[in-house]
Parts: sequence; C-alpha cells; structure tokens
Amino acid sequence: MSGPGVVVAIDGPAGVGKSTVARLLAIHLGVPYLDTGAMYRALALHLLDRGIDPDDREAVAAALPTVRIELRLAPDGAAQVLLEGRAVEGRIRAPEVSTATSRAAVHPEVRARMVALQRELAARHGGVLEGRDIGTRVLPEAAHKFYFEAPAEVRAYRRLSDLRAAGRAARLDEVAREIAERDARDREREHSPLAPAEGAVVVDTSSGTPEEIVARLVERIRARSG
Ligand code: DC
Repeated sequence: MSGPGVVVAIDGPAGVGKSTVARLLAIHLGVPYLDTGAMYRALALHLLDRGIDPDDREAVAAALPTVRIELRLAPDGAAQVLLEGRAVEGRIRAPEVSTATSRAAVHPEVRARMVALQRELAARHGGVLEGRDIGTRVLPEAAHKFYFEAPAEVRAYRRLSDLRAAGRAARLDEVAREIAERDARDREREHSPLAPAEGAVVVDTSSGTPEEIVARLVERIRARSG
C-alpha cells in the first residue's frame, strides 16, 4: 500500500472561498478534502438540538463524551462528517448554526476532540484540510500552508450567494453582520485563534475563478515540492 498523500493546510475567514478551492485542489492532488468547519458545525447542531447553550463551557464539555462525530471518506474523496452515524450537511449551514458553531468552537475541550480526528485523517490519507487553525495548530508541520483573504464585502456577498443558491432567504446586511461577528470571535478567542500560520503563503481570493486560484496553489505546491 502507498503511504499518505500530500498534506495541504488552508485557513482564512468566513466566505473567503476555502471550501470551493480546497475541494477542487484535493481532486487535483488525489487526496481527501476535509472541511473542518463542518465538524464544528455538526457539534453545534447537536448542542442546539438538545437545548445546550454553546457558550456554557461546562455543559458543552459534559455533552462531548456522549456525542458521536465521525469522518467517512466518500467516493468523490470528500471526508463526510457524520453526527450519530448520519450525514447532516443539509442542516448545518443555517446562519443560527454558524453563530452557535463559532461560540462552541472557543472551548478547548471541543477543539481537542476535533483536532485529534483531523490529524488522524491527514496521517492516514494526506489531504487538503481547510479551517481556521490548520496551519497554526492542527498540522503545523504541513509542507504546504495557505492563508486566504478577501475584503469583508466580497466575502459577505459570496456567502449571500451560497445561501440563496441553497434556497434560503437572506439579506446582505444581515449576512455581513453575522460573518463580521463570527470572524471577530474566531480571531480573538484564546485557543487557536484564526491567524496566518508561520510560513503560510497569503492568497488574495477576491479576484479570479476558483480554477484560477487552484492553478496558483498548484504552482506553489509544485515549486516547493521540487
Ligand atoms: O468554515 P466554517 O464557516 O464552516 O466554520 C464555522 C465555524 O467553525 C467558524 O466560525 C469557527 C469554527 N471553526 C474553527 O474554530 N476551527 C476550524 N478549523 C474550522 C471552523
């Protein structure tokens, strides 16, 4: 059997285009794609379903041992997040889940659990992992690290388009406020705040198609791999 494939870490704020680009890049490289935000979102959904306040560290930590969150590799190479054995993708993108996710993600107990699963997947298969702390905390030794950025208005507009494409009613000002609050919390939290990792290549995603951005990343990866 061949060993694990290449590992690529992509971090950045909400709506910056990480998922789209990471998915395409993973297909290009032939390794799994992992949206780590989906793992935190699945946990937040579980908390909301049970009426547990995501800000309540003790209650959240107490719920952790009883919740089953797993990763399953789908045939298209994406790592699917399972909550209690079920795919929950259709329920985790609502704005109220986004806010609860960012709140629950501040707790170190939550982070430790997710980081362990993420490292296990990368060690076994390699992968393109995207999130907030992949280059800084999850895989600081990754050979290839990128930090995506784009102006807040561009990111809000993208998020709005995603929500509308998913059939949700959404307003630009509300989406902009939600992601600004979330980004501030993600950047200012004590444990694993969002920040560019040492050695990360900063990529401005405000212009160019996803395919063009993937091509830029592939060029950097090739150049670094020799
Ligand atoms: O990438 P996303 O928008 O789906 O992430 C949702 C929230 O999850 C984000 O606001 C913060 C949290 N998150 C995190 O703390 N660490 C990660 N690696 C990924 C997401």
